[in-house]
Amino acid sequence: MDGTDITTAEIQEIDEVVKERQGTHGELLGILEEVQRLNDAKYLPEEALNRVAQQTGVPLSRIYNVATFYSFFNLRPQGRHTVTVCRGTACHTKGSRGLLDDVGLMLDCKKDLEEGEPYVTTHDRQFTVSTVACFGQCALAPVVAVDGSIDGAMTAAKLQKRIGRLSKGRKRP
Ligand code: FES
Repeated sequence: MDGTDITTAEIQEIDEVVKERQGTHGELLGILEEVQRLNDAKYLPEEALNRVAQQTGVPLSRIYNVATFYSFFNLRPQGRHTVTVCRGTACHTKGSRGLLDDVGLMLDCKKDLEEGEPYVTTHDRQFTVSTVACFGQCALAPVVAVDGSIDGAMTAAKLQKRIGRLSKGRKRP
């Protein structure tokens, strides 16, 4: 799937996923997981959810309930890389707000982050920036995860280095 609109091939993929999973335990969850996995931008486009509703006979409202209840489902395109900044109390007191601002500046998405979006994907879809309430690693505050790898005692310089490595060759808007 190309991560934007649903093509005929993508509709076929969804139909196959539904066919394979129908009648299995946790059917709807499994279907949505697979549909998201097949999407290049790792999310569930509206058209895909409509198709799942049509093919399974499950009301669209219930599908949305499931897709919004579980945090591993995304309703918007995800970037190739992820940066997650902890905004819990321990990290906040150690400067995580400043780190989030730094990430916003580095990735040209500071304004979107300030608008309080739960997560922001850069226009080139290279990065998704999000926050988390606590990683459970408070002793290491401030904590930031890049591509799922958690790093404690984070500083602006360390972050710059990690993001800089992943940004090589990236076109700025
Ligand atoms: S508050 Fe940041 S890891 Fe717990």
